[in-house]
Amino acid sequence: MLLENKVILITGAARGIGAAAARRAVEEGAKVAVVDIDMDEASAVAHELGSSTEAFRCDVSDLQQIDSLVASVVARFGRLDALVNNAGICPRVSIEDMTEALFDRITAVNLKAVFFLSRVAAEAMKPNHAGRIVNLSSTGGRTGGIYNATVYSATKAGVISMTKAFARHYAPWNILVNAVAPGAVETRMMTVLPEESLQEVIRTAPLKRLADPVEIANCIVFLSSDLASWITGATMDVNGGTLMV
Ligand SMILES: NC(=O)c1ccc[n+]([C@@H]2O[C@H](COP(=O)([O-])OP(=O)(O)OC[C@H]3O[C@@H](n4cnc5c(N)ncnc54)[C@H](O)[C@@H]3O)[C@@H](O)[C@H]2O)c1
Repeated sequence: MLLENKVILITGAARGIGAAAARRAVEEGAKVAVVDIDMDEASAVAHELGSSTEAFRCDVSDLQQIDSLVASVVARFGRLDALVNNAGICPRVSIEDMTEALFDRITAVNLKAVFFLSRVAAEAMKPNHAGRIVNLSSTGGRTGGIYNATVYSATKAGVISMTKAFARHYAPWNILVNAVAPGAVETRMMTVLPEESLQEVIRTAPLKRLADPVEIANCIVFLSSDLASWITGATMDVNGGTLMV
């Protein structure tokens, strides 16, 4: 069991990659805070995964909610061992049609939240002299993105940079900070694309398919575990060979 008795907080865990990570973490013995803005879906995931989980409602872009979230998770489970910054949004809007309000919303959820939630979570981890933070970046963060994801991809590049800075800053407390950069994964974020775009993604992928969310979750579990004791500041490309760096 890779995460036996560890307490892990996963944002955006109501569906997709986050829900898969919650499921895999429970299988590996963790207690999981299933955090999402969508409480109905988060509660359903927590209910399915059983008594070692609890759903928490939080809009990660709201700093006040972030503070009380970490306090509630520590009150419920007694400690915090790992944070997975997975919540993210990817509205498909062209450069011409992007508005200031939408730009601000994408950066608030995908980048600002990673900064502030990591900082609050690290304070809860410092007394243990151990911790893990896993951030979700994207292949788009390396390439600039395709299919009208310009702002999204810039936030995911920002996540790669922030991962390095946080890794350096929190190393003295043995808090290790890494990122996962998935390629195209079969979740709602991808399947909203037009069918012809999806088919093009599959056709150009070496393995000729989308990733199953559990294939990303496995990497998240590994980076959250004691096995990953000599990895910090890294971004792991989990993309089936779509982009080889
Ligand atoms: N699906 C892909 O192809 C892909 C590829 C690369 C990276 N990623 C990244 O993986 C992560 C998970 O993506 P997914 O594909 O599972 O997406 P998804 O849309 O299926 O799920 C995202 C979850 O985040 C939640 N969320 C959105 N805004 C929130 C907020 N403000 N506060 C709290 N929760 C919020 C949603 O309710 C949802 O449950 C994201 O960071 C995404 O950018 C996904």
